[in-house]
Amino acid sequence: MEKTYLMVKPDGVQRNLIGEVVARFEKKGFQLVGAKLMNIPRELAEEHYGEHKERPFFGELVDFITSGPVFAMVWQGENVISTARQMMGATNPKDAAPGTIRGDFGVTVGKNVIHGSDSPESAEREIGLFFKQEELAEYSKLI
Ligand code: CMP
Repeated sequence: MEKTYLMVKPDGVQRNLIGEVVARFEKKGFQLVGAKLMNIPRELAEEHYGEHKERPFFGELVDFITSGPVFAMVWQGENVISTARQMMGATNPKDAAPGTIRGDFGVTVGKNVIHGSDSPESAEREIGLFFKQEELAEYSKLI
């Protein structure tokens, strides 16, 4: 089953949007397999956002994501990676369609409420960065 890494960023946590975000993915029909509220250590943030290391906003990005608790999650379902990206909306909330999470709740490109893996490779990498295998729940034996 395809899995993705999703994270309510510090702005979303502080604005009490965890429930709203979780509800959207639950109602869509995806399954939550891992979740935790955590403060991201700086080294982990730098590794997570490693592909943006050369960007001028890298420092700001790491400062922000480590500035307060995030709600880290793993979700599973058919095509969950691309569907979650559609549900999140464009990276810059000013371009995000109404009805998407960033379109409905975000204002600035930095404080854009949610992060989601953009490919199967990043999903595997990001899940591995934030979760141990034993922290992920198993639904396949449900009767
Ligand atoms: P995210 O999906 O978490 O992945 C990288 C993040 O970089 C992105 O969301 C944005 O929040 C952030 N970002 C992109 N462009 C800028 C920018 N110009 N200034 C600050 N942050 C940015």
